[in-house]
Amino acid sequence: MDNKIYVFDTTLRDGEQVPGCQLNTIEKIEVALALEEMGVDVLEAGFPVSSPGDFNSVIEISKAVKEPRICALTRAVQKDIDVAAEALKYARLGRIHTGIGSSDMHIEYKLKTTREKILEKAAWAAKHARNLIDDVEFYCEDAGRADLEFLARMVETVIAAGATVVNIPDTTGYCLPDEYGAKIAYLMNNVPNIDKAILSVHCHNDLGMATANTIAGLRNGARQMEVTINGIGERAGNTSLEETAMAIKSHQENLGLHTNIDVSKIFPTSRLITRLMRMPVQPNKAIVGRNAFAHSSGIHQDGVIKHRENYEIIDPKEVGVKESAIILTARSGRAALKYNIERLGFEVSQQELDELYPKFLDLADSQKDVNDVDLLKLLGKDIDQTIVQIESLEVHSKMGDCHSKIGITVNGMLKTAESEGNGPVDATYQAINQIMGKKVKLEEYLVQAVTSGINDNGKVHIQICKDDVYYYGFGQHTDIVYASAIAYLDALTKVVELKAVESNV
Ligand code: KIV
Ligand code: ZN
Repeated sequence: MDNKIYVFDTTLRDGEQVPGCQLNTIEKIEVALALEEMGVDVLEAGFPVSSPGDFNSVIEISKAVKEPRICALTRAVQKDIDVAAEALKYARLGRIHTGIGSSDMHIEYKLKTTREKILEKAAWAAKHARNLIDDVEFYCEDAGRADLEFLARMVETVIAAGATVVNIPDTTGYCLPDEYGAKIAYLMNNVPNIDKAILSVHCHNDLGMATANTIAGLRNGARQMEVTINGIGERAGNTSLEETAMAIKSHQENLGLHTNIDVSKIFPTSRLITRLMRMPVQPNKAIVGRNAFAHSSGIHQDGVIKHRENYEIIDPKEVGVKESAIILTARSGRAALKYNIERLGFEVSQQELDELYPKFLDLADSQKDVNDVDLLKLLGKDIDQTIVQIESLEVHSKMGDCHSKIGITVNGMLKTAESEGNGPVDATYQAINQIMGKKVKLEEYLVQAVTSGINDNGKVHIQICKDDVYYYGFGQHTDIVYASAIAYLDALTKVVELKAVESNV
């Protein structure tokens, strides 16, 4: 059996179904090109019958992308299948992904029909699609909860009707890994014509087991995995591309499997999805979370500095992350302090380090973490540190037509600026940019209510990027635009001007 795992990315279909994550066609093309560069084999571009926008996006993605096969989703309905075939006409390689419910739950309570009628409809849909295109994937929806013997009959039926790939989705994220693996093994061993098709695994993360279930499915004979960037998708999400691709790579000897994914594109692609879909990644998310390669306890920091692999199973550079972070907190030891001083380009003797360390601990005790600016000040370096204070903020907002006027004292001098924007935060950030003059990219912006109720504080978390270095900022206030301004300035004042550092070396 060939051990290549086909990577089927559904970020633009199952991922894009998430409320608030909708993209326009231009943005979808940007994502599709990034996925192509990353090496995905199949790109599910949308559900063409669902809206003119989706129909158009499948056409435009088909024109823009050359390498991956472009896939379009349908129900087992003639109009869906015909419209999908029409949308795929510009694809160099196209695939129709059709299907129907396979569990008794769906057959009885959703489709209100019988198993026999479902088999007939499934066969009809696979055949009709195959008459229009030479590559047809059939999904047996809710296969995770389907009766095994019936599922095997369904798989056999759709392969006989022309399906080239059969998807066994754990639609509700219900299965345990050994159960899902056994399901795939059963199909591999009991469907007589299984050699005529590839089995595909498509897992949801409702119990946090999507990655484990996907790997279990592949170990038992499935050769395609359906994934999304950052694991975005319905409810708790889909299996994430980054976790599965890295699990396969990290356990290559044990699993004997491989993909075509260029893993160095993982982090930049994750950032792209976060930015375009405005869906932040949880900090402790495997591979792409901001803490995935950050070490904060003294014992771990010391271990990583001595030998990275003591506490890291993946070299961050491998997945496109610049470097591991040794976060300075009150739990950091001398090794971490020295490491960060050297990272900024300075050297300290053991005696200097011993003298500095208690001062560092005092500072770390008084604040959550010690950033580069704090460290440079601790070292007595003359840096361009900017002390800012918001003096006034006036915002007028009329349905996306907004104006903001801000007054900030910068190192004691009052400066004012005003700007238009597509929202109150945008207008305020543009006004701040005029005053601060730093060219940074806003990577992530998140507002959370601290508790609940209309009088509560909004907590704003932002992430900006300058010269490939990420800086975080926080702000909290009952006025969320004011909180946003505080957060932005917090991040901006952490940007260490390299010129200032270099001149001190
Ligand atoms: O989860 C699921 O069952 C699906 C199908 C439409 C493939 O997304
Ligand atoms: Zn799904």
